[in-house]
Amino acid sequence: MKLRKAKFSRSKAMELAPEFVDPIAVPRHVAIIMDGNGRWARARGLPRIAGHKQGAEAVRSTVRACSDLGISYLTIYAFSSENWKRPATEVDDLMGLLRLYIRRELVSLRGEGVRIQFIGDRSRLDIEINRLISESEENTKDNRGLIFTVALNYGGRQEILEAARVFAQNVRDGKLNPEDMNEQLFESYLQSNDMPDPDLLIRTSGEQRLSNFLLWQSAYTEFLFTSTLWPDFKREHLEQAVYEYQRRERRYGGSGN
Ligand code: FPP
Repeated sequence: MKLRKAKFSRSKAMELAPEFVDPIAVPRHVAIIMDGNGRWARARGLPRIAGHKQGAEAVRSTVRACSDLGISYLTIYAFSSENWKRPATEVDDLMGLLRLYIRRELVSLRGEGVRIQFIGDRSRLDIEINRLISESEENTKDNRGLIFTVALNYGGRQEILEAARVFAQNVRDGKLNPEDMNEQLFESYLQSNDMPDPDLLIRTSGEQRLSNFLLWQSAYTEFLFTSTLWPDFKREHLEQAVYEYQRRERRYGGSGN
């Protein structure tokens, strides 16, 4: 694997840990469950949308920080299959923010070599979002920097069910046999089939659960839970997370001896 040279900012985390992040051992794929937007807004007496707006700023800076650290893949959970249960006004606000974010960021992401892609069920998203998604994927597809994946109307169980459905159809059509199924083949049916599994999954706001995010893909992922609310998440929090990741021993089921 070719590692890009990491550029490090002068952050608080570096002052805390002078030896700081080892540029050779940065996680290849970081996944983030961005949580705490509502609490951030409530603490300030603001409407929830204010928290989501600040959260979008945190997305912006995290994309840059990942590129600078030499991380190859960043996947964020922007809207889950279950988020439709929120009040219609909040869903509308989130979709509006997303449209705005894609429109505004596309030019800069393109210029910075970031490739943007989306996972999740697009059928329930409106025409304009679908158009923006396709346009941004198309316009950045030749970029060779960070691969930035936005999970939108995404659910891990739904993704696995869809894979099983397509496989069953292939068997019914006589293209495959049940005994052909193995991990590699199954993965080829997942929307994430062109990405490595996440090495590090960060969830903000103190909640400690996976909430239907990348269920199959996170079998051996290192989890890091931080009490920081997503809108407050800065470059130094990412650096701290990477630093902690580098202190973990990954065994993949082995004994480590
Ligand atoms: C969780 O906070 C956050 C979300 C459900 C949405 C995440 C969306 C953004 C960060 C903004 C838009 C995204 C992009 C890519 C521009 P919560 O509302 O559940 O917070 P709470 O648990 O404190 O109520």
